[in-house]
Amino acid sequence: MAFYGVHCRVAVFLSVLCFVFADDPMVEIASGKLVGKSETFWHPDVNINRTIHIYEGIPYAEPPVGDLRFRPPQSKVGWDGVYRATNFGSACIQAIDPLEEMSGTLSEDCLFLNVYVPVTHNTDRLPVMVWIHGGVFIMGSGNAFFKGTPLAAIGDVIAVSFNYRLGPLGFLSTGDEHAPGNYGLLDQMAAVQWVHDNIEAFGGDKDMVTLFGNSAGSLSCEYMLLSPLMQGLFHRVIMQSGNVFVKGYFSTDSRMQRKTAHGLGKLVGCERETTEELIQCLRAVQAEDFKDFMDIIATKDKLENIVGQTLPNIAFPPVVDGYFFTENPSRVAETMAFTKSGLDLMFGNMADEGMFFVAYGMPDMWEEPKLTMNKTVYESLMSSLLPGARMKTDQAVKDAIKLMYISWDDADLEDLNYADTLSQQLGDFYFICPADASARAYAKAGFNVYRYHMTHVPSKSTWPFKWMKAAHAEDLQFVFGWHFVDGMNWTMTKEEVEMTLKVMKYWTNFAKTGNPNLPRDDATFSEEEARHDWPLFKVPGLEYREIALTMSNRRALKAKECSFWNNFIPKLMKNTDPAMKCFADEDGSGKYAESANIEQ
Ligand SMILES: *[C@@H]1O[C@H](CO)[C@@H](O)[C@H](O)[C@H]1NC(C)=O
Ligand SMILES: *[C@@H]1O[C@H](CO)[C@@H](O)[C@H](O)[C@H]1NC(C)=O
Ligand SMILES: *[C@@H]1O[C@H](CO)[C@@H](O)[C@H](O)[C@H]1NC(C)=O
Repeated sequence: MAFYGVHCRVAVFLSVLCFVFADDPMVEIASGKLVGKSETFWHPDVNINRTIHIYEGIPYAEPPVGDLRFRPPQSKVGWDGVYRATNFGSACIQAIDPLEEMSGTLSEDCLFLNVYVPVTHNTDRLPVMVWIHGGVFIMGSGNAFFKGTPLAAIGDVIAVSFNYRLGPLGFLSTGDEHAPGNYGLLDQMAAVQWVHDNIEAFGGDKDMVTLFGNSAGSLSCEYMLLSPLMQGLFHRVIMQSGNVFVKGYFSTDSRMQRKTAHGLGKLVGCERETTEELIQCLRAVQAEDFKDFMDIIATKDKLENIVGQTLPNIAFPPVVDGYFFTENPSRVAETMAFTKSGLDLMFGNMADEGMFFVAYGMPDMWEEPKLTMNKTVYESLMSSLLPGARMKTDQAVKDAIKLMYISWDDADLEDLNYADTLSQQLGDFYFICPADASARAYAKAGFNVYRYHMTHVPSKSTWPFKWMKAAHAEDLQFVFGWHFVDGMNWTMTKEEVEMTLKVMKYWTNFAKTGNPNLPRDDATFSEEEARHDWPLFKVPGLEYREIALTMSNRRALKAKECSFWNNFIPKLMKNTDPAMKCFADEDGSGKYAESANIEQ
């Protein structure tokens, strides 16, 4: 176990000037020595008193600055002496957002990771859980919100989180060799490779690595699964609200990517003829200047004006770069043309995922205690919030969606509230039905698949609005046990404390065994909950666990809605415009997998 548990006894003054106290934990990894800090995990609501060794701000690659901007991450050059890993490293450059406050400074030099190790007298190597944060590939970090102390203490796992490049700095592509794109995904890959290469020094088991992530991080987890480069580096995957069949967040259109890159050049004073000159110029732009192009809506609007066509939902999405992806990953998932068989997978969603898009569509509602939406607003947002020019305008598609989602029983009421109608429509389209397509594809291909649906509306929301319900990302507070994080000041109700413990047990047990279920006599669960195990998701069968204050089993989540989005709508669009091979080709994000065994 290398230097794990070995404490420095002397003060050392070295290149990274530091003073090492006798109690500070230290490890030696390939690049050099690291000193971390010790924290005691103890909380009145849980009978656990454990020491956690914390290493924050470990550099896992060279700073991607200067000539390394828009290039794959380079291996970290080793250091002499002891590196002080006791504070979060900078988060990657992003637009000012609430995360900044908690995540510390922003910098282009941001490729850092954090490791949380429960101290144990057991000599067995510990399972490892590697978190990929979300944030639409334009914001977020592995810091602060994802402190792994509770997971490590309660679940007896090593928790790892990290930052990766975002926005144009992470994903700008010229569609050619001068800037192929996907640097943010390559950062993720480098972090997972770092875990594989170094986690034994912390007492971790490199043959028991689980990737887990939320939203764009969940999508990234599935990208790791589908990339030909990621062989043997991880063994289990938990995908929380984000799947490869989502539309609007991937591009196969290198001409459009090139036009977008030139468009950005125009905005920052880099109007150039060739992509080579463009990239050379963009490498000299101050990193902070890219901040202005890291918001979801304004950047896309500006660039759409310059490019003169509808862009994907984010202006700089992951792409087919010929390296991380040699083809569209949704096609790879559809045909299961990849070699990582035998992995254990978990998929899940929130009951009100679509509120996330409603919040973006109705910024004037952010301060309101209650969300109300009349029919006029609904009719405008129901199509404008869909991706691609065709979906936004096709009348037959609009009519079909209305038929599917409007509460016809009450549609004659003048003041009918359409907020939920829109939220359910968008939640199904962007999250639940892509997860359904993925879960079905992997289950049919013989993977162990567990599926969940979280319906509990938390007493304290992650969002600054009052009306989000069981919204996108509300699972994070339960998975990371925010109630137990010092300094976070996040209090849950007594029932929610029980729920977060159950969720953490499910997640960490899945990381250990590939099965979230605990032994029947585990006191975390009620007798009734323990009697009914969380069943495997199979086709047919379609069973899943409803995650709420009380856990229960259900089946066929949104089966009709998902057949609508995954089968009917593509066919409808093909029929109304036979020239269109498939609607999904429009923005290059591929055709949905079949969602049911029914061939019409
Ligand atoms: C936790 O354990 C440590 C060491 O065994 C002990 O000193 C400390 O008092 C305990 N804390 C609580 C709150 O039980
Ligand atoms: C619908 O709501 C919007 C925004 O609140 C408002 O501007 C509009 O007048 C309303 N339309 C009708 C027909 O009530
Ligand atoms: C913790 O949260 C409570 C309620 O939200 C608030 O009143 C209190 O000021 C907060 N404390 C700190 C230290 O932030």
